Amino acid sequence: MKRAIIVTVIAGLIGLAMFLIPVDPPPEAKEQSMTKTDNIVQRQARGAYLAQVGNCMGCHTMQGGQPYAGGHSLATSIGTFVTPNITPDQETGIGRWSEDDFWRALHDGKGRNGSPLYPAFPYTEYTKITREDSNAIFAYLQSLPPIQQRNPPNRINFPFNLRPLIYVWRAFYFEQGIYQPQAAKSDEWNRGAYLVQGLGHCNACHTARNPFGASQGNILGGGQLMGSNWYAPSLTSLQEASTADWPIEDIIELLTTGLSYRAVATGPMADVVSQSLQHLTSDDARAMAVYLKSLPETDPHSRGVAPPLTEEVDKLLQRGGELYETHCQDCHGNLGQGAPGAYPALTGNRGIMLASPINAIRSILNGGYAPVTIGNPRPYGMPPFAQVLHDEEIALVLSYIRNAWGNRGTLVSAVQVDRSRKGAQ
Ligand code: HEC
Ligand code: HEC
Ligand code: HEC
Repeated sequence: MKRAIIVTVIAGLIGLAMFLIPVDPPPEAKEQSMTKTDNIVQRQARGAYLAQVGNCMGCHTMQGGQPYAGGHSLATSIGTFVTPNITPDQETGIGRWSEDDFWRALHDGKGRNGSPLYPAFPYTEYTKITREDSNAIFAYLQSLPPIQQRNPPNRINFPFNLRPLIYVWRAFYFEQGIYQPQAAKSDEWNRGAYLVQGLGHCNACHTARNPFGASQGNILGGGQLMGSNWYAPSLTSLQEASTADWPIEDIIELLTTGLSYRAVATGPMADVVSQSLQHLTSDDARAMAVYLKSLPETDPHSRGVAPPLTEEVDKLLQRGGELYETHCQDCHGNLGQGAPGAYPALTGNRGIMLASPINAIRSILNGGYAPVTIGNPRPYGMPPFAQVLHDEEIALVLSYIRNAWGNRGTLVSAVQVDRSRKGAQ
């Protein structure tokens, strides 16, 4: 039913597209190319750094593949994208691209032939990058060894595979424009905002999406990742992952090592830390932290209601507590206090009390590591419990840690665990 409605809406939009294509804004008057004759080597080095901050490699490299040669699959609700090769190979990469072509991709989301790119490439955020930074990234990419690698095409479902539809999407959801500094704020704050909103593309994961894959609702207000069973918590709600009441040093620590005594980065966030954020200069890490801390508070993305402590609930929690003692306590402590630098505290840990328990279920099923970083080169691991505990037991132990030691969270059911096990959403 829902699908039928979406298809009808899309059909309408295709009609609309016919009108919209001609009025798509003409490419913005070309900005002045860098006039400063800065040393090319310096520019490439700067570009290498910026490419890390933007985590271009994370998407444009397949597992075990050549850096930046593409071929990485991105599953989304409309199909699977296969990222293009952005090494300077003439045939299969971007060897024939000019600085202007590259700028148009980042700033305006258009390919070299002028056709619109899918926003799975987060140009909705990269549009905020300055021309100077775009040129530096381009100089860096062009300095890489060209890799000849032709990647398979995207596998996008009808009707989303019709590229002209992207024009419609853009008319609704794409706002082009470089980041505009706010005069009332400090340079440091503006730098942080530039990084978080632009290159860092935090918004791409931490903002909810509508059925068309466009961000909706509060910016950085939390949302489930497209095509994956992870929830990126709200960076603006104190019940989720806002850092408004954290000391700056703790925020910097979380961003650059993935571990602070209040939280640990796991799953896709661990990749963001190890591939990107750990490389931030100390000035940039601080700027990002200053900006994140300043974000105005909003309500949590979703709110769960903790159970009233009836006798029955108490019994369930007791069984969960026994499982905790047997399987978890050695590492996480008898009061859920964890061990600094090694095992995260579970008491007061917002990550495990989120209304949506999917991240915590995943941690318990699959285990995991905090990211490997220079600051934390050999992170302690969490063993997987998928083979050790059944759904019912995982539900019990999770319900327990969500409600022990002053924690408050909804009870988790075996059905929810089963859904995660099967990779469903
Ligand atoms: C979240 C994943 C993701 C990230 C991060 C990402 N890209 Fe991409 N990129 C894509 C996808 C997917 C496409 C293809 C979109 C399409 O098919 O329309 C793409 C397309 C491109 C293109 C157009 C290539 C062509 O052949 O048309 C360029 C250039 C590009 N990306 C550069 C970058 C740079 C530079 C960065 C880092 C600043 C970056 N990308 C980060 C996913 C990503
Ligand atoms: C590829 C998707 C993705 C991107 C990009 C991303 N995040 Fe996350 N982030 C997640 C997910 C998923 C989680 C939940 C898992 C966890 O708690 O580590 C998360 C968790 C967090 C947390 C809470 C950690 C905790 O456990 O309390 C913070 C803070 C955070 N992200 C900040 C950022 C910032 C800042 C950026 C941009 C520089 C960013 N994220 C970019 C997916 C992403
Ligand atoms: C051998 C030590 C060890 C044992 C045993 C262990 N854990 Fe963990 N746990 C860790 C480490 C290390 C991490 C951080 C790594 C990560 O997040 O992937 C972690 C992370 C977690 C997280 C994610 C926390 C967050 O902030 O995202 C949860 C939830 C969790 N453990 C619950 C449990 C439960 C429940 C059990 C028992 C069934 C258990 N752990 C047993 C070491 C352990």
